Amino acid sequence: MALPRYAFFQGRVVPYSEAHVGVLTHGLNYGTGVFSGIRGYWNDDEKQLFVFRPEDHYKRFLESARMLGMTLPLDARGLTGAMMDLVRQEGFREDCYVRSLAFYADETVGVRLHDLTPETAIVALPYGRYIEKEEGAHATISSWRRVDDNAIPARGKIVGSYVNSALAKTEAMRSGFDEAIVLNGDGHVAEGSAANFLLVRNGVVLTPPITDNILEGITRRTVIDLLRDELGIPVVERSIDRSEIYVADEAMFVGTGVQIVAITRVDHRPMGNGRIGPIAAALRKLYFDVVRGRRPEYRHWCAPVYTGAEETAARNREEAQRAAAVAHP
Ligand SMILES: Cc1ncc(COP(=O)(O)O)c(C=O)c1O
Repeated sequence: MALPRYAFFQGRVVPYSEAHVGVLTHGLNYGTGVFSGIRGYWNDDEKQLFVFRPEDHYKRFLESARMLGMTLPLDARGLTGAMMDLVRQEGFREDCYVRSLAFYADETVGVRLHDLTPETAIVALPYGRYIEKEEGAHATISSWRRVDDNAIPARGKIVGSYVNSALAKTEAMRSGFDEAIVLNGDGHVAEGSAANFLLVRNGVVLTPPITDNILEGITRRTVIDLLRDELGIPVVERSIDRSEIYVADEAMFVGTGVQIVAITRVDHRPMGNGRIGPIAAALRKLYFDVVRGRRPEYRHWCAPVYTGAEETAARNREEAQRAAAVAHP
């Protein structure tokens, strides 16, 4: 993976190579950090890059920070502004991913959350698929249980708790599956290793409630709205038993990274007829139209990176490149 050119670090944009931390950094040693992953989608017709729901991501980021007792200097709007400046400087004309991180930066020994100073860092890089088989993934029920809210708050995106996700993901992949379905301590379905979970049974979409140790996903909220308002499909938020997965018609992972992944097999059992189902297919189409800014009703979720002048410059550059390619094929 190519490294970013820039980073937002210590309050300003610097070359990526200058954004360093020391090995004693608290967040690195004890996982005392929070993060967010946001996608930017290139719309080639408009020559525009749309970042999807940045302020909602940063609101959750700040909520996660509060859980660790961190006070950050920037609010959701300020973080969005810093991120947009950084992405603009990277100048992407393709889909990208933005990683934001707030961590306790003190180089010190001692496990605690008090008397520490947070630092914020943001980087962005071009990004494609997170799960290769988006239209037909094979999932397994993990032997690992989802971290409990009373152990490490599950609704927050807290760095240390991603060891739980990594254990589940690697176990699943080394056993030949694409992704894990992780149960919570009660044995109910929580989510994937880095994505929320939905299943379809008898025309109704079911998804675990936010009190079942899931991350409060922005994509989950997005697709609940799209399913109800655009596709007219009822969505019920309730606990899901493991065996309900085996008798479901369809299932999906949803998240910024995975986007919308159709699960077509679980533990070698086909979901429905073993191919992507009609609800997952319709939702995928709708979702990608929405995130690329092609649905005017949802444009308020899509933050344009390039302003008028930059858009014109980008268009001119592209036309010049096209003309050069014709002149020198
Ligand atoms: C554990 C976990 N659950 C769910 C999600 C989905 O959340 P979001 O849709 O906000 O990206 C993520 C992040 O991508 C995650 O890491």
